[in-house]
Amino acid sequence: MKLKNFSLERYFAKHEFSAKYLLSCSDCDGYSLKYVLDGAYEEEMSLWEGMTLGYTESEGHSLLRESVLPYYKTNDINDVVVASPGELNFVTMNVLLEPSDHVVAVAPCYQSLTEIVKSLQCDLSFWKPDPEDWKFDIAHLERAIQPNTKLIIINFPHNPTGSYLTLDELQEVIRIAREKNIYIFSDEMYHKLTMEATQELPPICDLYEKGISLWGTSKTFGLAGLRTGWLVSQDHSFLEKVIAYKDYLSICSSAPSEILSIMALNNIDRFLQPNLEKIRNNVSLFSAFAKEHKIIKSFTPPQAGSTSFVELDIDETSLVFSDRMVDQVGIMTVPSEMFEHTGKYIRVGFGRDNFSDVLEVFGRYLDTY
Ligand SMILES: Cc1ncc(COP(=O)(O)O)c(C=O)c1O
Repeated sequence: MKLKNFSLERYFAKHEFSAKYLLSCSDCDGYSLKYVLDGAYEEEMSLWEGMTLGYTESEGHSLLRESVLPYYKTNDINDVVVASPGELNFVTMNVLLEPSDHVVAVAPCYQSLTEIVKSLQCDLSFWKPDPEDWKFDIAHLERAIQPNTKLIIINFPHNPTGSYLTLDELQEVIRIAREKNIYIFSDEMYHKLTMEATQELPPICDLYEKGISLWGTSKTFGLAGLRTGWLVSQDHSFLEKVIAYKDYLSICSSAPSEILSIMALNNIDRFLQPNLEKIRNNVSLFSAFAKEHKIIKSFTPPQAGSTSFVELDIDETSLVFSDRMVDQVGIMTVPSEMFEHTGKYIRVGFGRDNFSDVLEVFGRYLDTY
C-alpha cells in the first residue's frame, strides 16, 4: 500500500514551528499540563501519581472508556476503542474496505479521509457543498450512491468550511445508508464546537447500527498533544478488527495521555467553554474584518467547528499567496491546494488567543497587497 504525501500536514510541518503567526490552525490553543492537573479530582490525582509507564490495554484504559460513555447513549465500554484520531481513521478504512468497494466522502476534507480510501484502490465519489454557503445537498449524496457503495464518510462540524447538517438532514443520510446497508464513518473531531444558534447533532453511533463515530481530545478540548481519540460503534465485530489491526501500529496508547484524557472528559466545561468563547469572539472579529477588506471575496461564518474556508479576490493562486505572505510577514495560512480544492481559498482558524494580533498584521499586509 502506497500513500501520497499528506499535503496539509507537510505544509504545517514546513511552517508551524517557524512562522511568527498562525492564522489557519484547526485546533484551539493547547492547555498546559498544570491546567489539566489543577482541575483534576482526588481519585484522578491518585491514578496519576500511581501510574506506571508500562504498556496499556489495546482497546484503551477501562476508566478512559468509562469516561467516554456519558457522551453517548451506550453504557457498554466494549462499544469504545481508543487510539490516536488519525490512526483510528486509517485503521477503520483498512478494516472495512476492499478494492471492489465504492465509497462516498465529503470534499473538500481532511486529506486522510479520502487518501487512505484511494490507497486501498476503492472507487471514490465526492459529496461536495455549494460554495455559496457551503451547504451539503442530500440529493447529491443520494445520486452518488452505487450498488457497491460500502461506506459513506462524513465530517460535521466540517473542516475546513464550518458547515453542519440539521438533524433532519443527518437522518436523511442515515436513511440512504440504511436502505443499502452502507456503513457511515462520521468524523466528529469538532463535536460540541457549535455556534450559539446551531443545534448540536447527536453522534452517529447513537442513531445508526452501522454508524462509526470518531472523536478525540485534539480540537474540542484543546489537548491535541495527548494524541487521544476514540471510536464508538454498536458493531463489535468491526471494533474487534480495529483492536487487532492496532497491534501493527501503536499497539496501545500512552499511559500519561490516557489519565490526562480521563481528567479532561470528566470535566469537559473547563476545556470546552473557554474554547467556545474564543472561537465565537474570533468569528465576530473576522466578520468585521472581512467587510473592511476587499480582498476577502466571500466569508461564510462557520455554523460549527473552528474553521472557515475564505475566498480571496487575488490574481495569483492561493498557494503562491500563502507562500509569499509567510515569507514576507510570517503569517502562515493554509491554501485551498492543501484540500485539493480548486479556487482561491484559505482556511482561517478561530481557536487561538492571539487571533486579533494576527488579524492586525494580516490587515496591514492586505492593505499593501
Ligand atoms: C476532520 C479531522 N479529522 C481527523 C483529524 C486528526 O486529528 P488528530 O490530529 O488529533 O489525529 C483532524 C485534524 O486536523 C481533522 O481535522
